[in-house]
Amino acid sequence: MIRIVEPVFSEEEKKAVIEIIESHQITRGKWTKNFQEEFARFVGVEHCFTVCSGTVALFIALKALGVDRGERVIVPAMSFMATIDAVYLAGGEPVVIDVDDYFTLDLNQLEDAVRRYKAKVVIPVHLYGGMADMEGIMELSERYGFYVVEDSAQAHGASLKGKKAGSWGHIGAFSFYASKNVPMGEGGALTTNDEKIAKSIRKWIDFGDHPAFNVRITEFQSAIGSIQLKNLPSRNERRREIARRYTRAFSKHFGVPLEREDSYHVYHLYTLTHPERDRIVEELKSRGIDARVYYDYLLHELRNSEHLPTPKAESFRREVFSIPVHPYLSDEEVELIVESVLSTVSSGNIVS
Ligand SMILES: Cc1ncc(COP(=O)(O)O)c(C=O)c1O
Repeated sequence: MIRIVEPVFSEEEKKAVIEIIESHQITRGKWTKNFQEEFARFVGVEHCFTVCSGTVALFIALKALGVDRGERVIVPAMSFMATIDAVYLAGGEPVVIDVDDYFTLDLNQLEDAVRRYKAKVVIPVHLYGGMADMEGIMELSERYGFYVVEDSAQAHGASLKGKKAGSWGHIGAFSFYASKNVPMGEGGALTTNDEKIAKSIRKWIDFGDHPAFNVRITEFQSAIGSIQLKNLPSRNERRREIARRYTRAFSKHFGVPLEREDSYHVYHLYTLTHPERDRIVEELKSRGIDARVYYDYLLHELRNSEHLPTPKAESFRREVFSIPVHPYLSDEEVELIVESVLSTVSSGNIVS
């Protein structure tokens, strides 16, 4: 089976893990301090705080911005469930809106929703590694006074107009879960440029000010993150190279992922659309290719939440499927995937 994701570690990670064991400093040491500084520099922000997961990063982001009883938070219909669950956990009331052609928050509906619900926070998700329309969203944020938390769990290193994911909004929230472009096993981070917001994030991380969870990560995770981060630019480049090959091969027969103008898509997932999605996924699996559906649910249906009409997300939900695009695929594996995907639509089947 060619797996959908494949984290790969080198001798360098092994050496670092042994070094940490031998040093007896397994938490709150130099690796954690260094990784936070390195990640802040990489994203292009002043502050980075690592935490134990992306879900916790989103939760703390919302609390730090003052989300409490019943405050409205706008999220897109298409994302991993953590995006909406963090809103409920923080005590907020989500409003779910539609996505655009890039699988990200629809700007036209956003303005409508912000006016109607007087949202305190908006969470754009850079789904599959492609940037949401951050320029438009930040313009609306200035006009209407809402905060923006970028869910960048799938977008390490993605950028729009030269500015990276996690540096556009008031806060960026990242995940370092095992399948992500920077994998640590488990982990997350918050990024911000705002001194006041950083101070309020700290209250949720350092004990003392009010009741809070321990959300720290260990030196082992920070070391792995630090070494993975060093390799991220070349690995993102490889993902993009594979994606270009796929798009050339598939654009006649499938809906292919679009890249926003002047953006850098990091292809956490390569996602196609086709009306016969279920059959195609089954055929690919039987040929040993781990095709999967991200996601077969919409957030408001999953949690029975307030929402605006979501026709685009509903059609994507029925048609999306992702194929392996991780940087460890060999050229031969890429060609095998191309051939296999094309074979699912070449035998007289109806083609979209
Ligand atoms: C878009 C999105 N948001 C949030 C999360 C939550 O991150 P974690 O699994 O680290 O809690 C994930 C990934 O799992 C994700 O893909």
